[in-house]
Amino acid sequence: MPVQFDAPRGHFHLYNNSISYIIEILSNGQMANLYFGQRVSTRGDYSYLHESLTRPHGAYYNETSALALEFVRQEYPSFGTGDFRQGAFQLLQENGSFITDFVYQRHHIYAGKKPLNGLPSTYVEENNEATSLEIELYDAPSQTRLFLCYCIYETRGVLTRQARFAYEGNSQVTLTSALSACLDLPDHDYQLLQLSGAWGRERHVYERTLCPGVHSIYSLRGISGAEHNPFLLLKRSATTEDSGEAMAFSFVYSGNFLAQIEVGSHHSSRLLFGIHPENFNWSLSTGESFQTPELVIAYSSSGMNQLSQTLHQLYQQRLVRGYWRDRPRPVIFNSWEAVFMEVSETRLLSLAEKAAPLGIELMVLDDGWFGQRNNDSVALGDWQVNPQKFPGGLQSLIQKLKERKLDFGLWIEPEMVSQDSELFTQNPHWVLKAPNRSLNPSRHQHVLDLANPQVTNYLFDTIAGLLRENDIRYIKWDMNRYLTHCYSPAYSPQEQGKVLHCYILGVYHLWERLLQAFPQVLFESCAAGGARFDPGMLYYSPQIWCSDSMDALERLKIQYGTSFAYPLSSISAHVSAIPNHQVRRNTPLNTRGNVSFFGVLGYELDIEDLTPKEFSQIKEQISFYKQHQRLLHRGNFYRLLSPFVQNQAAWMVVSQDGLEAIVCFCQILAIPNPGFFRLQLRGLQPEALYSLVGYQSPLCLYGSQLMRAGLPLDIKGISRPHGDYSSLLLHLSATSAPLPNLDYAFPQECFSEEVSDINLSIPEAYR
Ligand code: GLA
Repeated sequence: MPVQFDAPRGHFHLYNNSISYIIEILSNGQMANLYFGQRVSTRGDYSYLHESLTRPHGAYYNETSALALEFVRQEYPSFGTGDFRQGAFQLLQENGSFITDFVYQRHHIYAGKKPLNGLPSTYVEENNEATSLEIELYDAPSQTRLFLCYCIYETRGVLTRQARFAYEGNSQVTLTSALSACLDLPDHDYQLLQLSGAWGRERHVYERTLCPGVHSIYSLRGISGAEHNPFLLLKRSATTEDSGEAMAFSFVYSGNFLAQIEVGSHHSSRLLFGIHPENFNWSLSTGESFQTPELVIAYSSSGMNQLSQTLHQLYQQRLVRGYWRDRPRPVIFNSWEAVFMEVSETRLLSLAEKAAPLGIELMVLDDGWFGQRNNDSVALGDWQVNPQKFPGGLQSLIQKLKERKLDFGLWIEPEMVSQDSELFTQNPHWVLKAPNRSLNPSRHQHVLDLANPQVTNYLFDTIAGLLRENDIRYIKWDMNRYLTHCYSPAYSPQEQGKVLHCYILGVYHLWERLLQAFPQVLFESCAAGGARFDPGMLYYSPQIWCSDSMDALERLKIQYGTSFAYPLSSISAHVSAIPNHQVRRNTPLNTRGNVSFFGVLGYELDIEDLTPKEFSQIKEQISFYKQHQRLLHRGNFYRLLSPFVQNQAAWMVVSQDGLEAIVCFCQILAIPNPGFFRLQLRGLQPEALYSLVGYQSPLCLYGSQLMRAGLPLDIKGISRPHGDYSSLLLHLSATSAPLPNLDYAFPQECFSEEVSDINLSIPEAYR
């Protein structure tokens, strides 16, 4: 069992082969952190890590103890009893006091991991995959119990945390803040990496060096938002992609969040992560409890790539669930940027005539198919097919698509309503709205009150009706505005502080019911592009629309940033038309394809306009992707060159056995007369001999050559892409198993003098 309890010392050691997390019961009964990092011996005594000094201004726990909480690394601190930093929670009691003193009562260690009630979380399939620890603490004056819940995976450099409060008194207490976890670290020699941006440029990478004070990112938009992803990474200044210490914090939640690091005056760092306390207020009456969402904490002693791979595998294998988790995803055609709202059966079928021979597997009917939806100011909520556009209903279209061997998918935006809609006219009290205040439209729409079970029941019936009556294999679930007027007419005035969280619980509940009823439907989550790209959503939808910005160059940055936390199989990435709709850039079709391969490939352009050359290029792209989807989605992903720091970007995917790889290199802007350039690959088997698939080149190189000396892009046989936004895709396959030692003679046939003009043999699709 990787949770060890050292009773005499009151130490808990959660460990696996890569990490150790050690906590102690303090002399006052509260919980403190001794260590988090690379695995240390389970035989050691870690008491020496409890540092304590008498310092000026220390507020001591009592007259006789030398314990001043401000100078202790605590597990779940409260404000008000000597720790002047921000705490992990605040509990308001009947008498008006916020002071609490939660002390250790008992603990429970068990194999496996319990699911959360109504909240998404990582899971296990077998109990031997993880061990859980629940520490029970009690605050007698408030008659409240606190459970600190930990789970460590057996074979992953990951642990999860969350907290639960249970009230046992006869009146009421109110949580005005209840974060998921605190992690106090002994120093602040870290750089903080965050994924931030806005609509169209989500999850860009930003870094800052910690210094005294508070560093935070947050969302108060009702959903996780495009502005900051609920993710933070801390690394040492010398840490690179391949070496050094790094830890990541990823929040399994889709609503408001706060992620902050406070560097204290004695240079320790306090990480806090959880639901944002602003507008949060949760009362507990006798017997009631509140559980926080889960925080995933990952650690790597060998760089950021390793950290990302740990998260990718965890999310792919133990967060995403169900029918689609391990299945290849269909190549999608989406009608949005092809025809926008001018959808009709006739138009869809003529697009389908082109889509089927290209190798597309599923046609998605995006916005515009329902009610009087001819522009974005009307009809959201009226989920009835427009009979002028689809005279035979969806059934006739679906039947005709089936005859062309195409499945069908549908766009909906269930959480929203247009003011100009039948739904709003009939149920104006179903939107979030404060009494006697006017509504704020955004994209001409309002937010339905999903905190109200009447609304989620109605939405379940409506969506289930569509799914029952029509053979819909895929749903794109959109959500195109942030929440304002977060007031639910269905809740009492005293309960309004619950509404934002209950909204998200309502979304999760609705999704869960639909997944239970229609387990084979593939759901793709979307929020005006990637404004709700978070681990909470991944629990329900195995793929998420990455961004409305589909320009390949913009996508380089977005997908590069997204890869810090999320696996390629979750990143929906479409090839669109040029000039690109968002930035008017003209990017070559091969670059658009090459970038989208590193995600879930789809097409979103008017394919009736394609030239014969483009048609055959796309056909080749789809065939390449289908052939290699498993490698792309299940392999290990390596970031090689960052588009945030240079004029080039590169990344690669390597199969689990290290014998096959696909590499993408992009030249952002062309440079006249550039210097030579070697691309250093990663993750290969040093002693395996690789050849370039698709090139007639006899060039064979060992993994150690490719990773250490690098692959020159200006040698005969490979030619560095020329021109702005050009790219090169390389497919490497080991021609032999790894050889036993470095002295093995190089096979001479690999060095034939007859190197032809290799470029001509690069498959058209990725030239
Ligand atoms: C959002 C989505 C787009 C598209 C439109 C339709 O912006 O992100 O992909 O579905 O809505 O209105």
